[in-house]
Amino acid sequence: MMNHNGMEIGIIVALDEKNGIGREGGLLCHLPNDLKHFKQVTSGHAVIMGRKTYESLPKGALPNRTNVVITSDAADNYPGCIVVRSVEEALTHCKEGEKVFIIGGGQLYRATLGLADRLYLTRIHHTFSDADTFFPEIDTGEWRLTQKESHEADDKHRYPYTFLTYTKK
Ligand SMILES: NC(=O)c1ccc[n+]([C@@H]2O[C@H](COP(=O)([O-])OP(=O)(O)OC[C@H]3O[C@@H](n4cnc5c(N)ncnc54)[C@H](OP(=O)(O)O)[C@@H]3O)[C@@H](O)[C@H]2O)c1
Repeated sequence: MMNHNGMEIGIIVALDEKNGIGREGGLLCHLPNDLKHFKQVTSGHAVIMGRKTYESLPKGALPNRTNVVITSDAADNYPGCIVVRSVEEALTHCKEGEKVFIIGGGQLYRATLGLADRLYLTRIHHTFSDADTFFPEIDTGEWRLTQKESHEADDKHRYPYTFLTYTKK
């Protein structure tokens, strides 16, 4: 499904069993396969992020993607990024027919869940008691599960996790 001037808006997020997504400005755990999945899904497309998520990126702007940062701060502080002040302004920088991904964090997810056509969730099968940032509640009646791929924990992945794709009904 596409709307928003032929744009498809996807939200991509890794969340724990209680929708926890972060702690102290960083992620809850390191899952290399999830980072690979994130790269695979978003490469070649536009990514929109909140200022705090930009600050959490180890090497700044993500390569091979149009990076859009939403902030009230000065643009010079975000090299390699398009800097905007609102979600609406962010979307004006995304071209017709383009796939756009909202990549966090909590504040931006709350502002955009109602606009999204697709959700790319990585459900981490664990509850982090010290999570301080959360994804909003997902109304499962509004979404159809279109893809599911489960993974067990292993040497490199401390927790089991499932990639889930939902499309707006
Ligand atoms: N698990 C995951 O998949 C995932 C993904 C991304 C991030 N995270 C985690 O989430 C945490 C960061 O999330 P967060 O909620 O604290 O911050 P955030 O959404 O990344 O950034 C918040 C800031 O972005 C700007 N902003 C966001 N939404 C806006 C809107 N609708 N309108 C105007 N400005 C807006 C504001 O910037 P100014 O204050 O500069 O005006 C705001 O203070 C970190 O722990 C990060 O690691 C997790």
